[in-house]
Amino acid sequence: MDKLIITGGEVLEGEIRISGAKNAVLPIMAATLLADSPVTIRNIPHLHDVTTTMELLGRMGVHLTLNEKMDIVVDATTIHSLYAPYELVRTMRSSILVLGPMLSRFGRADVSLPGGCAIGSRPVNLHIKGLQAMGAEVEVINGYIRARVGRLKGARLVMDLVTVTGTENLMMAATLAEGTTLIENAAREPEVTDLANCLNCMGAKISGAGTDTIVIEGVERLSGIEYKVLPDRIEAGSYLVAAAITGGHVKLKDTRPDIMDAVLQSLREAGADITVGDDWIELHMHGKRPRAVDVSTAPYPAFPTDMQAQFTALNAVSEGTGTITETVFENRFMHVQEMQRMGAKIQLKGNTAISKGVERLTGAQVMATDLRASASLVLAGLVADGETTIDRIYHIDRGYERIEEKLAQLGANIRRVPG
Ligand code: UD1
Repeated sequence: MDKLIITGGEVLEGEIRISGAKNAVLPIMAATLLADSPVTIRNIPHLHDVTTTMELLGRMGVHLTLNEKMDIVVDATTIHSLYAPYELVRTMRSSILVLGPMLSRFGRADVSLPGGCAIGSRPVNLHIKGLQAMGAEVEVINGYIRARVGRLKGARLVMDLVTVTGTENLMMAATLAEGTTLIENAAREPEVTDLANCLNCMGAKISGAGTDTIVIEGVERLSGIEYKVLPDRIEAGSYLVAAAITGGHVKLKDTRPDIMDAVLQSLREAGADITVGDDWIELHMHGKRPRAVDVSTAPYPAFPTDMQAQFTALNAVSEGTGTITETVFENRFMHVQEMQRMGAKIQLKGNTAISKGVERLTGAQVMATDLRASASLVLAGLVADGETTIDRIYHIDRGYERIEEKLAQLGANIRRVPG
């Protein structure tokens, strides 16, 4: 298994390009199942989760090709199996996103239940409840969700809590349903809006995406189009924290500052000087040490849970005391113990991490069990004395495109060692 080795102490400076969003490309790849002709997806990030989704679709008989621009062309007309196996769903929970499209287009789907994961129990009960309300027969047998329907019927779906992939699954299912579906208390994440934009280009009739009420008027068919995926706001946020934590100065290109308000606001509170244009962000610390900040995670547009671990790293070396409260997932502080091993002074009280910033961390051998936690350890390594070795980096490769190359481009001393 590959490792990353970082020698801390470099101040990050320079320019990098931000990749397409993991959490937008995965639902869009699932949405291709709804189209009756090939869909071309542009701005594809090279991530392990994208490869896993290609494998999942490929096993169903979907034809996938990469064109000369590295766009993925997906042709779902050759599909022959409506089945998502445990061994793939287990490694990538977002595989559940094929459930809604398969059921809506073909009237049947057998998808493994994802099971628990490192950051909490993460049930999919709301996905199932929504499909049942649209007339599907859904049962769980031998660890699989078995769903059957003639044609889904539009319904009013009031979501008990805000779920991103739940909203996406039901929105995709509703595109080919008979009649109109209303999703209330819908997730407002920009990736939900991106998916709705893509579906609308394919011929769907969706309005209200980006608000908490989404209206989907069912249509008879969706067709292939070409679509460019939105930039990754979490990748962008992670590199901004990397610059802030090292007292550096970076410019991110091909990004979208308008969907990053909460994160940019917290970085400004930490003392960063931030300027933005339509598709770029520049952060300058003027060599200063950051100030600790207080943040609390919640659904968009509030502070994203996917940036929580990175800000825990920031607070660990900032001036003063800061608190980070996690309200979305029940068990998302595995990085704290590893940071404590690097000399961070963090105290966990329920779902809050209180940290008293130290001047520097110390390098150590660390590992993490989820994607963003692993990334936060890379950030910690950038400001640790000596060498930090991060194990199990396949988690990072699931969601960050060539992280070591992008950080090295900004001057970090980082290398990948094949294991
Ligand atoms: C998505 C993102 C993930 C991000 C998360 C929260 C993708 C591929 N992943 O995950 O990166 O961290 O949103 O922003 O887009 N819940 C239920 N029942 C359900 C569904 C969810 O109880 O049927 C709970 C979850 O356990 C969790 C909360 O709802 O506590 C929010 O989860 P959800 O928004 O569904 O996360 P994901 O869509 O899995």
